[in-house]
Amino acid sequence: MKVNGQDYRTIWLNPLDERTVQVIDQTALPHRFAVVDLHTMEDARQAIAAMTVRGAGLIGACAAFGMYLAALEAPDSHFMQHLNTAGETLKGTRPTAANLAWAVERMLGAMVPAVEVAHARVLAKREALAIADQDVEHCRRIGQYGLHLMRDIAQGKPGQTINILTHCNAGWLAFVDIGSATAPIYAAHQAGIAVHVWVDETRPRNQGASLTAWELGQHGIAHTLIADNAGGHLMQHGLVDLVITGADRVTRCGDVANKIGTYLKALAARDNGIPMVVALPSSTFDFNLRDGVAHIPIEERDGAEVRYISGLNSHGCVEAVRICPPKTPARNWGFDVTPSRLITKLICERGVCDANEAAILSLFPEHYR
Ligand code: MRU
Repeated sequence: MKVNGQDYRTIWLNPLDERTVQVIDQTALPHRFAVVDLHTMEDARQAIAAMTVRGAGLIGACAAFGMYLAALEAPDSHFMQHLNTAGETLKGTRPTAANLAWAVERMLGAMVPAVEVAHARVLAKREALAIADQDVEHCRRIGQYGLHLMRDIAQGKPGQTINILTHCNAGWLAFVDIGSATAPIYAAHQAGIAVHVWVDETRPRNQGASLTAWELGQHGIAHTLIADNAGGHLMQHGLVDLVITGADRVTRCGDVANKIGTYLKALAARDNGIPMVVALPSSTFDFNLRDGVAHIPIEERDGAEVRYISGLNSHGCVEAVRICPPKTPARNWGFDVTPSRLITKLICERGVCDANEAAILSLFPEHYR
């Protein structure tokens, strides 16, 4: 996608030195655009842990490149042992997004046919690149399937703008390119359908305000930032035609873990008869789980993210300020689970389906058991 008119992905191999992975530093956005070099598996681990990179698809891609870097570092004598340890280390960074473990396992599997260590390194590089390219292709297809939905909504209100509400950032910054929730929006915009996006700020880390607003702005998509709690009011007043979010982990029965607050949007959408659509590539499914509320691991982060808010001060410097009394305790769950009954449709790279086991497995029959 474009940054100041120039094409970027969120992660790539440095063309001048293919032992270096480069990523957009998402902690600096929207105030500064910066690219960070990852030289080692430990750099990749830190990038995920510190949220230099974030979003389910990108976490997976970064883990894949982290495994490639681990393959470059691994001693010949303990090659697979080193890779297995690196995989466990990367998987330990963030617990909720399914894409992380999926990417690590895929990287390990790709090296199995290697006849020697040098060959394994070649296979690791090839697989990391393939995972990144596949992420882009899956998001592109999600956009095409989502476009049908957007056309249907547009036909129902000829000559008017479609108002879409989204939560957090499931845009191109959360993937390698294009994004999941944003893919139908970008596709509709390209197809000449008038769209406007209500962007939830998404406390506590404000991925909506910092990232979604920034990337939509870069692409000339009409959007308005709203406080997290405004969505229900907008829905009651006919100002939302569609709620569309991404997902961090989706069970085989269609329960959706996504950024904290998604569940409340889904409840409000149901109460107001507004479609609640979730867009995800297959790498986000966890086909081992059925009951998301009971079994999806929910990351709990430092309460400081709730107690402080950061932004640009009047001197143009990024500053964090405390918004509560000095000793107020805070808890900070990163995600919640929206039960499948509240989801109108899932959009995947293989098509659109209802959020239930039979419908999901009709798109992914290889997971029947
Ligand atoms: O904590 P983050 O920023 O990594 O959270 C992930 C998200 O951005 C959202 O939950 C998103 O909707 C799913 S990622 C495609």
